[in-house]
Amino acid sequence: MSGLLGSILVNSMHAKTNESERMNRETSQHLFAQAKEVIPGGVNSPVRAFRAVGGDPVFIERGEGAWLIDADGNRYLDLIGSWGPLIMGHAHPRIISAVQAQLARGTTFGAPTALEVELAMEIVKAVPSIEKVRLVSSGTEATMSAIRVARGYTGRTKIVKFEGNYHGHADFLLAKAGSGVATLGLPECAGVPTAVTADTITLPFNDIVALRELFALHGESIACVIVEPVVGNMGCVPPISGFLEALREVTIASRSVLIFDEVMTGFRLSYGGAQARFGVTPDMTTLGKIVGGGMPLGAYGGKREIMDTVAPVGPVYQAGTLSGNPIAVTAGLAMLSLLREGGEALYARLDQVGTTLAENFRESARNANIPVVVNQYGSMLTVFFTEQDSVTDYTAAKSSDTQRFAQWFRALLDSGIYFPPSQFEAAFLSAILTDAEVVLLSETADRAFQSLKE
Ligand SMILES: Cc1ncc(COP(=O)(O)O)c(C=O)c1O
Repeated sequence: MSGLLGSILVNSMHAKTNESERMNRETSQHLFAQAKEVIPGGVNSPVRAFRAVGGDPVFIERGEGAWLIDADGNRYLDLIGSWGPLIMGHAHPRIISAVQAQLARGTTFGAPTALEVELAMEIVKAVPSIEKVRLVSSGTEATMSAIRVARGYTGRTKIVKFEGNYHGHADFLLAKAGSGVATLGLPECAGVPTAVTADTITLPFNDIVALRELFALHGESIACVIVEPVVGNMGCVPPISGFLEALREVTIASRSVLIFDEVMTGFRLSYGGAQARFGVTPDMTTLGKIVGGGMPLGAYGGKREIMDTVAPVGPVYQAGTLSGNPIAVTAGLAMLSLLREGGEALYARLDQVGTTLAENFRESARNANIPVVVNQYGSMLTVFFTEQDSVTDYTAAKSSDTQRFAQWFRALLDSGIYFPPSQFEAAFLSAILTDAEVVLLSETADRAFQSLKE
């Protein structure tokens, strides 16, 4: 057996084995019991706990390309990619060897390095809105800092965000947030004083009328608007035609700062992110995930005159002991060089795989008589188990039957496919998925839809 057909058959056989002999996850279960004693909920980030889908989380031992191997030796085709960063799969040899070489030179210096300059120059070249950039250690730090800068620059306090968008866990950004907040169905976050969110205005995503009304009334007091240009955190929800353009128009008119939170979409929807793809240039951009090549790294940047308000040039303070960490920067540089080499073809491949999977999932759901809306944009994808005609905002996303999603998720997991364990998270495809893996995934999803009928 050789080539494509061979690996399809091998993988299909593997999936069948997994299905017929229910996976043994004893080690994961044991680790989870131990973890719950010493870590809240047994996890270091809430969605990992599988609360929304039932069962115990799978503890991962290692990753190989598009595959995850758990602590019991079970293999899963990974559709999460560490929630976005791993667009080139796990343990890419180029990233690993670059990091190993850097490790031998030292892990952190607390002083500038040439590597940081190189990464900053690459980000400035890639992302249309960024003329200057600051490196931080996470997406949360990037958005939190960008908003401080926008407020410092404009001298205004009010910020606008959209329902179901998630921008990290800073206090003032947790209002009507997506991701784990949506997954756990939390109405609000304890520990966040009302006063802290008093200046956060939330609007429905994709509602151009509400946006224009707000700006007509309060535009002059709004420091900034922060938005996921293609939302991943209430599941994948792309912008409707004209929404991003309307955002640009009202923020220019009121001299508010427009921030695209491209922590998920940056270097994913194109090398220049969603802004390059949609041709709408914000004033500031936040980055994370892919830019760190799988290491903890975030970034915020924008127009020169805005970024020059940041200390030590300007009065807006922001700092970090491990900011621009040489290991993370090295991983990021290696990742970006892989994406540049892949070029247009790599992004075209991601789009093609995304479209193929979305079409296959729709067809399978139709054949099984299960109502779904499959939203997909490039390599981001969500199957909403809803009877709505479309999902363009948080209200529609929340109409989904989360129990049915959970059943579908478990059927996939037990067949060796690791999908995000939440109705309100996007699947992230990697550029290294083979045609055989796409077939395997489609066939397994088809059986999972069929199993929902029974
Ligand atoms: C759009 C967006 N912004 C910000 C964040 C926060 O990033 P981090 O988890 O690295 O703090 C996330 C995390 O998923 C995100 O998806």
